[in-house]
Amino acid sequence: MMWIFVACIGLAAAALPDDYPVRVMRGVRGNVPMPMIGIGTWQYNNSLAEDTVSTAFKMGYRHVDTALGYGNHMGVGEALGKSGLQREEYFVTTKIPGGLNATGTLQAVTRSLRELGLDYVDLMLIHYPASWTGEGGPDARKEEWLALEEWAMSGGARAIGVSHYCKSHIEDLLSVATLPISINQVEYHVGMGPSADNVNDDRDWMESQGIVYQSFSPLCGPCADPMELITGEVVTEIGMPHEKSGPQVALRWLTQQNIPIIPKSSNPKHMASNMDVFDWDLTDVEMKTLTDTATPASAENGGDCTVALEEAKLV
Ligand SMILES: NC(=O)c1ccc[n+]([C@@H]2O[C@H](COP(=O)([O-])OP(=O)(O)OC[C@H]3O[C@@H](n4cnc5c(N)ncnc54)[C@H](OP(=O)(O)O)[C@@H]3O)[C@@H](O)[C@H]2O)c1
Ligand SMILES: *[C@@H]1O[C@H](CO)[C@@H](O)[C@H](O)[C@H]1NC(C)=O
Ligand SMILES: *[C@@H]1O[C@H](CO)[C@@H](O)[C@H](O)[C@H]1NC(C)=O
Repeated sequence: MMWIFVACIGLAAAALPDDYPVRVMRGVRGNVPMPMIGIGTWQYNNSLAEDTVSTAFKMGYRHVDTALGYGNHMGVGEALGKSGLQREEYFVTTKIPGGLNATGTLQAVTRSLRELGLDYVDLMLIHYPASWTGEGGPDARKEEWLALEEWAMSGGARAIGVSHYCKSHIEDLLSVATLPISINQVEYHVGMGPSADNVNDDRDWMESQGIVYQSFSPLCGPCADPMELITGEVVTEIGMPHEKSGPQVALRWLTQQNIPIIPKSSNPKHMASNMDVFDWDLTDVEMKTLTDTATPASAENGGDCTVALEEAKLV
């Protein structure tokens, strides 16, 4: 009866590894485990994205963050295809541009899956509350969200969410949404203060609505001084008694607040150390020192809260 035994093994549900850090978020059909860490790919071309994702997945990463606008879906898809993993064993986040009408939304999600070579993504985000040039507004946001919902319900994504949205943008969606807004991905790192009081404010309100607050640029990659959270004095000194590096302190400050992170690195040593931010703790005093640190400033001058509050068209 050996074949029954083999068949049973084949049926074992594939998923993220049991010890992969996750937090629960609301998906299209019930809760979905949201990985607390993934590898970022912004500014990487196809070949660098492929190499980076391959290396990261070999060392245990199971989540990649990409976007249609990054132009590297094909490289990411190549790495996933060659990973040897089953589809259920890893998590893919991507994003479509903001400011799209229903037709444009469907085209963008369809193109994303085709480029990635996937039947579905785990998380599809709307990248921005309007087009990058500010075209959009409340009605446009509602149209794009509802088109995304319809596509997701047909099986395209396990969860859908937004990025760069402030409270008023989210309220526009909540007035029409029939599916949960799973997450809001925003810039957040040491130097931006408490999350209730930064350029992408209202974390507490978002969490009260069941929306997970996720950090992008957790190491302040695009900031004026991109080394402040790498070799800067505050993070370096706090790390010493823990035998951790500055970047590990900056990342731990986020994960200790239950904020999922997507640090980007193409250096295998950095990738590995960036994953070591879960089974040790900063003290309350250290957490407060990091929260009270006023630099590095956000890379987004003024933040997103004034983006396309009214309907605006390009002229
Ligand atoms: N939704 C959005 O609009 C949006 C916007 C920005 C970013 N994101 C997402 O968030 C991801 C991360 O943000 P980011 O790319 O802006 O930058 P980041 O992750 O804050 O910082 C990346 C920089 O830090 C360096 N680094 C990483 N780990 C390090 C370590 N342990 N030691 C020393 N240096 C280290 C990297 O260089 P090395 O390669 O040399 O390690 C790289 O230059 C993006 O890639 C993207 O997926 C989303
Ligand atoms: C992709 O980026 C890498 C690193 O910046 C560079 O060396 C390589 O030439 C680029 N490849 C292409 C095809 O542009
Ligand atoms: C939707 O947007 C596209 C451009 O993305 C445009 O060509 C098309 O005319 C728009 N459709 C409607 C119904 O406005």
